[in-house]
Amino acid sequence: MPANATAPPRTDLNEYEDYARLGALLTLQQPRTDAPAELSFLVVTQIMELYFTLLRHEWESARDVLTRPGADVHRAVRTLRRAHGAQDALLASWEALRTLTPAEFDEFRDAFGVASGIQSYQYRHIEFLLGARHPRALAVHEQTPRIHAELAAQAAAPSLYDAALKLLRGRGFAVPEGLAERDPRTEYQGDDRLVAVWRAVYCDQPRHGDLADLGDALFDTAERHVRWKQRHLLSVWRSMGDKPGSAGTSGAQWLERGVHRKYFPDLWTVRDQGWA
Ligand code: HEM
Repeated sequence: MPANATAPPRTDLNEYEDYARLGALLTLQQPRTDAPAELSFLVVTQIMELYFTLLRHEWESARDVLTRPGADVHRAVRTLRRAHGAQDALLASWEALRTLTPAEFDEFRDAFGVASGIQSYQYRHIEFLLGARHPRALAVHEQTPRIHAELAAQAAAPSLYDAALKLLRGRGFAVPEGLAERDPRTEYQGDDRLVAVWRAVYCDQPRHGDLADLGDALFDTAERHVRWKQRHLLSVWRSMGDKPGSAGTSGAQWLERGVHRKYFPDLWTVRDQGWA
């Protein structure tokens, strides 16, 4: 038993409050109505924004590790795996909204007007890091120059997958220069030559184990993100049916179009053939 096991807890708790910035954090949960379900909606929204922030940090870090000469692939994979924990927690956050009925949602929906998750710039950062770089996504932020500039920089920087392409080329795989050095502002659509590269990696894991781990970690990242989008769509169907969204989209139908997206497409296509 440790020597101080029976010691009373310390009472000078200000350190905790300072570190976690509770004074600021706990002033931010201010619903706009008295509707009983609004606080859960607001808190879940804030929690998800915090997780988007964390994912952005982890994925930028993994991307930067992979683009360095002599990349430490193990470190990048560890970072992606740590982020999987955040993605799982993000996904679980939907549970707090699972009972929200259309009637309960309507009690506070007007209070946030045209506010919509489509304006979430942290979400857009993580989509850009995943390689989803639709030019219209930037236009939403034209009226906020700092946010627009940060997003434009992200859209011009390599995605996680662009970083993997450079790494594979650097390790001697037949990644055409035009793909490894492609303009990141255009969206990568997948390429049969890269499917062949991943197949070669997976077929010879004793030699390329770290790259196979990277492929798996990227695939797991993509799959978790798709699951978040699917769960969002389910919540939308449940809480507002097929009504238009607050940003003026068709709502669930608009979201449905993006819900089957295969981020890092070569890693999905390689599964068509499998590997020994
Ligand atoms: C039951 C609660 C929710 C409903 C009914 C809902 C509804 C919608 C709808 C209809 C859209 C389409 C755009 C529009 O016209 O507004 C949308 C987009 C979006 N929502 Fe939600 N939402 C909910 C909860 C959340 C939460 C908690 C978050 C977390 C921050 C979130 C993040 C987003 C994001 C990031 C988009 C843009 C998706 C994209 O660009 O592909 N939503 N939401």
